[in-house]
Amino acid sequence: MTQSKSQTGLHVAIIMDGNGRWATQRGLPRVAGHRAGVSAVRRAVEHAPDLGIRVLTLYAFSSDNWARPPQEVQSIFWIIRAFLRLECERLRQQGARLEVIGRRDRIPSPLLREIERTECATANGHTLNLRIAIDYSARTAIAQAAADAFAAIPPHESITADKLRNIVTQGLSSESGAVDLLIRTGGEQRLSDFLLWETAYAELVFTHRMWPDFDESDLARAVGEFNHRERRFGAIPNLPLEPSCHLPDNAQ
Ligand code: FPP
Repeated sequence: MTQSKSQTGLHVAIIMDGNGRWATQRGLPRVAGHRAGVSAVRRAVEHAPDLGIRVLTLYAFSSDNWARPPQEVQSIFWIIRAFLRLECERLRQQGARLEVIGRRDRIPSPLLREIERTECATANGHTLNLRIAIDYSARTAIAQAAADAFAAIPPHESITADKLRNIVTQGLSSESGAVDLLIRTGGEQRLSDFLLWETAYAELVFTHRMWPDFDESDLARAVGEFNHRERRFGAIPNLPLEPSCHLPDNAQ
């Protein structure tokens, strides 16, 4: 397959970067940037289906973000919890289904309860699969999927790399599928341990826009750029038939 358009809708993943700088530039505490980032989340969720996005995965808190000051970590969890509480009904009406990815064993229980409540309330949503990554590390997710795969293969069966690869792929992204487009705001150009397996053939778009300023026109521009890219998945598109190849005598 060399074409880019997905029949079923796009999987777009976003690294929402720049909240802290956005706030600092305005003389505000960093947490004000995270709070402002919620409006950008709302805009992205609302406009995603109109842009042909079926799965939207947002990086809200990486496992490495535990290294931040405890007050900032607490504030981010509090902001996500408030978002879920306030937006749950709107998500349900929009037909969005929430799924949180990442480790759950370290998430504070008030946030965990809100996550479970919202996942349950939106379980029948079918217009948008909204995935929020919290306490997420792609390397941990891959290692966990590989461990699950090992456990799933019966003891007498041989373990081949192909078999493991298929099971890990299924375990990581059976419903959401591979990422088509990865966007990172805030001007940095790196993946920061986000969806490393699922982005194997993703198109990457980096923008200097800070996350709180990212709006529907920025999202539309990124999708537009994606639509103009030719995805080859390692193949050669529209290969003209070559005349039969004659090797020079000394090449044999
Ligand atoms: C990265 O910016 C952003 C985060 C670590 C937190 C993202 C959280 C939100 C946008 C809050 C709302 C989320 C949801 C899902 C409702 P940064 O702090 O690293 O920014 P900097 O690089 O400018 O310091």
